[in-house]
Amino acid sequence: MTTENTQYEHQPVMLEEVLDMWFSQSEGFYVDGTFGRGGHSRALLARLDDNGRLAGIDRDPQAIAAGQELAASDSRFHMVANRFDCLPQVVEQAGRPIDGLLLDLGVSSPQLDDAARGFSFLRDGPLDMRMDPTQGESVAEWLSHAAEKDIANVLYRYGEERKSRWIAKRICDTRKEQPITRTLQLANLIESVLGRNEQGKHPATRSFQALRIHINGELDALNQVLEQSLETLAIGGRLAIISFHSLEDRIVKLFIRDHSGRAPKGRGGLPLGNEMPQRLEPVGKAMRASKAELKVNVRSRSAVLRVAEKVA
Ligand SMILES: C[S@@+](CC[C@H](N)C(=O)[O-])C[C@H]1O[C@@H](n2cnc3c(N)ncnc32)[C@H](O)[C@@H]1O
Repeated sequence: MTTENTQYEHQPVMLEEVLDMWFSQSEGFYVDGTFGRGGHSRALLARLDDNGRLAGIDRDPQAIAAGQELAASDSRFHMVANRFDCLPQVVEQAGRPIDGLLLDLGVSSPQLDDAARGFSFLRDGPLDMRMDPTQGESVAEWLSHAAEKDIANVLYRYGEERKSRWIAKRICDTRKEQPITRTLQLANLIESVLGRNEQGKHPATRSFQALRIHINGELDALNQVLEQSLETLAIGGRLAIISFHSLEDRIVKLFIRDHSGRAPKGRGGLPLGNEMPQRLEPVGKAMRASKAELKVNVRSRSAVLRVAEKVA
């Protein structure tokens, strides 16, 4: 793993849109739950005054190192090395509720670009994919013992991979002969099952996404942090979430809908009986990156930004 923070860069996605729809108080307390290389955080700090505060959270060691460097040069910022569903502790430590919470989900470009992290199906490296390599199992470890049906379920549920059972069977047949420990070994195995007939998409795309989501417990962390946001945001505080695939976006969309009194009604418009009191108000509609950004940042292609304000 490289320790050089400047070697791999990350271009923040939908930066102007986030600041326009989410930022409101120059003396506020903000939390960037996915610090990465701090692209959004630095732009926010430029708008905060001396009384404003920003906490950055990340669980990736290189992101944490970049955040600690920033904290050393700006006393309004501090870095929290943790999963982002630690908001109660962050608020307790700050002694004030959050005026703005940002989540720019998924992996950063440095994580993808550094073959040693094992996220990429294009570059050979150890099959790891943990955002925090000091916690839990790597993908290689999990694939060495997981039941065939559990592997198939993960590929289907988190990758929407229709041929999940075939791939899981091939993984289990292969591991009897040799352990699956390298990213390209797995990518080639998947290609040998699916062929190469999808235009513009590597056949391992969906499976790598699924394994990454599973190994990092990504959807569980997202569900937790959304629930925590209701208790840790100030009234008038805003939640901004950028998601990169439909599973994440669906969770965010339904969470905002259900907590903003917009849950679907039954026949004749009658309540279904499971309505929740209104806590949030959506701010604008879901947004996508501008044409100009799409031209210069390929990661922004699948980004969807949703913003909501806490009203009760
Ligand atoms: C897309 S990047 C964020 C990039 C950042 N906005 C920037 O401009 O540099 C996502 C970051 O969130 C971190 N991350 C993802 N899920 C996390 C979680 N549950 N807890 C803490 N950090 C997480 C990843 O390690 C990664 O550094």
